[in-house]
Amino acid sequence: MFFKTITAAAIAALHLASPALSTQTFVNTGITSGWSSQNIEHNGSINQVTNVVYNGTSALKFTQVYDPSYTGRYHSEKAELQVYKLGDTGFYGFAFRLQSDWQASPAQSYNIAQFIADFTDTGCDDWMPSTMVWVIGDQLATRVKYGSICAQQIQEWKGLKTVTPGVWHTIVIQANWQSDDSGYFKMWYDGAKVVEEYNLPTMIDDSRPFDFHIGIYANGWHDQQEMLGTQETRQIWIDSVGMGTTFADADPTKIEG
Ligand SMILES: *[C@@H]1O[C@H](CO)[C@@H](O)[C@H](O)[C@H]1NC(C)=O
Ligand SMILES: *[C@@H]1O[C@H](CO)[C@@H](O)[C@H](O)[C@H]1NC(C)=O
Repeated sequence: MFFKTITAAAIAALHLASPALSTQTFVNTGITSGWSSQNIEHNGSINQVTNVVYNGTSALKFTQVYDPSYTGRYHSEKAELQVYKLGDTGFYGFAFRLQSDWQASPAQSYNIAQFIADFTDTGCDDWMPSTMVWVIGDQLATRVKYGSICAQQIQEWKGLKTVTPGVWHTIVIQANWQSDDSGYFKMWYDGAKVVEEYNLPTMIDDSRPFDFHIGIYANGWHDQQEMLGTQETRQIWIDSVGMGTTFADADPTKIEG
């Protein structure tokens, strides 16, 4: 009896400590419902489509349209609120596809996914993105942000891989969100690890939760106050979005679309 109790307690303790326990905290199979909110600015749009899919029967098509007489930002994004905060560890994944005639030159930045929170109360910033995933030219890029909201610092990884238009690609991020040197940040592209960094800050020193936004954010059009090249309409498809405590929870190849 005594030994039985010990064994049961030991097994329970092992279970609690096991990092293999899987909890999928979010999944979206390419549908407009099931998100916390969305942000569509100016002539942007978000459509659920069935003709271009990564897996299953539907995907989300995000569009933005350049307008030289408009000075605002260009978001077309779906959002899931409060997906991580300082101290958390998680996996975040999705499949994406650029329109087949995507114009990569001259190079300008188009953001695909970002983690973001509202810092208006600090007086130092408003909506502040931390990690972002974007294409610039035909190259994939990502970053972490650290320091404090009033003294932000950025580490970027650019030129990670070539992004082929008209082809589905997959992203999985694993992050341990820390404001000191105990964090880590990894990113896989089409199943291959392209970033693997340990012992670095991955977050600013603030405990508020960050939201996850995905779609198209043509940040270059706003930040550079012009569109480079001639492609005024930009489209990015997204499918098989997942988040959770294990790689499999966020792996687009394991998520029905
Ligand atoms: C873009 O949006 C503005 C403001 O809503 C509107 O006046 C304009 O007609 C739109 N342009 C196109 C091409 O849809
Ligand atoms: C599509 O979804 C199914 C069911 O979840 C999965 O078994 C399969 O691996 C997925 N295929 C791709 C290409 O992601």
